[in-house]
Amino acid sequence: MTGPAADRDLRARVADRWLAIDPLLPSPGPARAACGADLVVAADDGALAAVGGCEHWAPHADSLDVSWGAARQYQLSVRVADLADPRPLDELLSRWKEHLRDLTGAADDDTAAVVTWPSRDTRGVKTLLAHGLAPLAVVAARTSVAAGEHGEATRDGLRVRRAVAADLDDLVRLGLEVVRFDSLVSGVTERPSTAAALRAEFTAMLADEQPWLWLAETDGGAVGMLAAQRPATARWIAPMARHEPVAYLLLMGVAARHRGAGIGAAMVAHLHREVRAAGVAVTLLHYAPMNPLSAPFWSQQGYRPLWTVWEAIPARTLR
Ligand SMILES: CC(C)(COP(=O)(O)OP(=O)(O)OC[C@H]1O[C@@H](n2cnc3c(N)ncnc32)[C@H](O)[C@@H]1OP(=O)(O)O)[C@@H](O)C(=O)NCCC(=O)NCCS
Repeated sequence: MTGPAADRDLRARVADRWLAIDPLLPSPGPARAACGADLVVAADDGALAAVGGCEHWAPHADSLDVSWGAARQYQLSVRVADLADPRPLDELLSRWKEHLRDLTGAADDDTAAVVTWPSRDTRGVKTLLAHGLAPLAVVAARTSVAAGEHGEATRDGLRVRRAVAADLDDLVRLGLEVVRFDSLVSGVTERPSTAAALRAEFTAMLADEQPWLWLAETDGGAVGMLAAQRPATARWIAPMARHEPVAYLLLMGVAARHRGAGIGAAMVAHLHREVRAAGVAVTLLHYAPMNPLSAPFWSQQGYRPLWTVWEAIPARTLR
């Protein structure tokens, strides 16, 4: 069975499984119409067992995106009917590896093979690992309805306030510190363009009358920053969640010697108040599961894994 009917049947089966494992996952769309590689695995009865779409993506060299990952990415979207049998996913990933092997440029160092996988779809994990993919990032979600407000620890002499144009240098300095810390534990990479890209991003955010951009300061100066996108700006990531509106927490960090004192929690409390007032259903953010500070912190703030981003870096290390 091939063609649109087979595709619909496969998607319906994936939709059932996703809904059963995680009610926050969206309905699966078609595997992304992508580079045209033939990534289709049939079951013994002829039905579709797995379909993949491989997209080749190169963020602009001056964009902030190129700081979050490799300069050239091969992103596979996967639809597998049933994971009780590991073979269809295994076969699909083997075909993908063959496809990448034949591509000019896929053997370069600054590349990544990327699979974004539902975090709770645990039955695929061993197969992803066996192909040399590592869980380098998580898209975590916090639902506004279910989440309680976590304590806003206040310290003497600490203020959290909305950032203004005069804070730009502090925002960039603190933002760079986050990039540097995350680059130790994930695919994040500081580029020659990172500081300028952060400056451009914050400048654009500061044009908003009430930017979702906060600074924590003590009498000694700025010690923490938080940048988030309102639903209108976070549309790019909204399809990753079942419910809307979606907000996105872009970047947050506290200067090294001020961590663990409640400053992060105080800034997040400001965002969560605005999120609630704006009627946001789900707030999303990325964190690195191997970041020993942020992973437990986000869990404590009410965020939990929704998608896991598996990567082979460079792409040629896909097995
Ligand atoms: C992740 C990060 C932003 C958290 O900010 P933070 O200010 O250190 O976080 P908090 O102090 O609010 O909370 C962290 C810990 O301090 C504890 N804490 C909270 N209030 C406190 C207080 N008043 N005094 C002492 N400790 C406190 C919290 O309970 C928490 O402890 P736990 O993890 O053992 O439960 C910060 O550690 C950081 O900048 N890390 C490096 C960059 C980074 O990882 N950014 C996030 C990328 S996704």
